Amino acid sequence: MSTLHVETLSRVYPSGEGQVTALAPFTHTFAPGITAVVGPSGSGKSTLLNLLAGFDTPTTGRVVVNGTDLHALPEAGRADFRLAHYGFVFQNHNLVSILTALENVEFPLTLAGVPPRERRDRARALLDRVGLGARASHLPSQLSGGEAQRVALARALANDPEVLLADEPTGNLDTRTGERVLELLTAPAREGRTVVLITHDRDVAALADHTLRVRDGTVTAEQEGVRV
Ligand SMILES: Nc1ncnc2c1ncn2[C@@H]1O[C@H](COP(=O)(O)OP(=O)(O)OP(=O)(O)O)[C@@H](O)[C@H]1O
Ligand SMILES: [Mg+2]
Repeated sequence: MSTLHVETLSRVYPSGEGQVTALAPFTHTFAPGITAVVGPSGSGKSTLLNLLAGFDTPTTGRVVVNGTDLHALPEAGRADFRLAHYGFVFQNHNLVSILTALENVEFPLTLAGVPPRERRDRARALLDRVGLGARASHLPSQLSGGEAQRVALARALANDPEVLLADEPTGNLDTRTGERVLELLTAPAREGRTVVLITHDRDVAALADHTLRVRDGTVTAEQEGVRV
């Protein structure tokens, strides 16, 4: 069971002569399962996710993953930690353009030192799971947007991450493909993984176990069982 806890986490950006409070101090323990993060454009959702990932440095506070203070780790240690514990899906899929779909899914396994035969088998199984076994040798430029998104999800799942962070993973997808992507996020959630999912889509948010609402940098946990 993974634990993700944030304490007085905030981010203030300089902006011209003033400042933007992209995230006001926020304390929360993410329960296992899917937490949807909803809120208007510019409210601070991606800011929160980037802090959870350790891609951005908080102005105050800390992110604690399974007892480890993420931002207290040195840069290299943080990269290793991410590799071992995190999976990511971004709105723009961030696949490596010179690697095939299969190689993209294998990539985090290579970095994690998984032997070639095993990582190839695991990557193939993951591509099958996202319905793209027949596209294994395609480059990202030879995939549709939805296919690329599913390859990115397969890659995010490759290390069996304890924390899965997704920024609008269904944003550019048609309903059916979006549903398939969601189904793939549900499996790790059921296994006690922590999935944090930014979405604009009410139908997607309705499937989540928990909801955080962000407005002008302030995050509020929605009461369990109450859906708006
Ligand atoms: N690097 C930055 N420097 C200055 N301001 C920033 C920076 N990144 C984000 N902001 C500001 O912080 C606020 C929150 O941005 P953020 O990207 O978190 O919004 P969001 O909720 O993800 O929006 P969207 O739904 O459009 O993706 C916005 O007002 C944005 O302009
Ligand atoms: Mg965003």
